[in-house]
Amino acid sequence: MIDARHIVQELQEMREEGHLSDALLRFAVRAIHAADDRFDWVGVYLLTDDRLELWLHNYMGAPTEHARIPVGEGICGMAVAQGANQNVPDVSAFPGYLACSPDVRSELVVLIRAGGEIFGQFDIDSHQSEAFSPLDEAALQMVADKLAEQLARERR
Ligand code: SME
Repeated sequence: MIDARHIVQELQEMREEGHLSDALLRFAVRAIHAADDRFDWVGVYLLTDDRLELWLHNYMGAPTEHARIPVGEGICGMAVAQGANQNVPDVSAFPGYLACSPDVRSELVVLIRAGGEIFGQFDIDSHQSEAFSPLDEAALQMVADKLAEQLARERR
């Protein structure tokens, strides 16, 4: 289980020390990946300024060919197109799923956003089917919201 409060506290301390979003995003991906054996692949995608594509910022897990994903494609692109997190218990049943590895069974995408603006998302893959609960989503959302604070500050 992710200790979201602890990760958020660490992120806040990093912000107070003056670290920028690049460092915070890398720290968050490592902390989430280390938090739970179900999280086989953890990455952050950032939305381009024209809001047409997601670009992979950093990840832990097996290499992926999906470094750039058009909005509307795959589970990741669908999250942005719909403006909604995606908890997919069985990736084989998702139309247009973009396979990262043949071992992946379920996937969770949590948006990083502040106000109306989407900055990007966490993408988590599991080799277990139905790996993710609403509690996982809520925990990831807490971390995502803290990152969004920093990304919004840097945007201004
Ligand atoms: N499965 C994702 C693509 C990203 S890889 O899992 C890293 C999707 O369908 O959008």
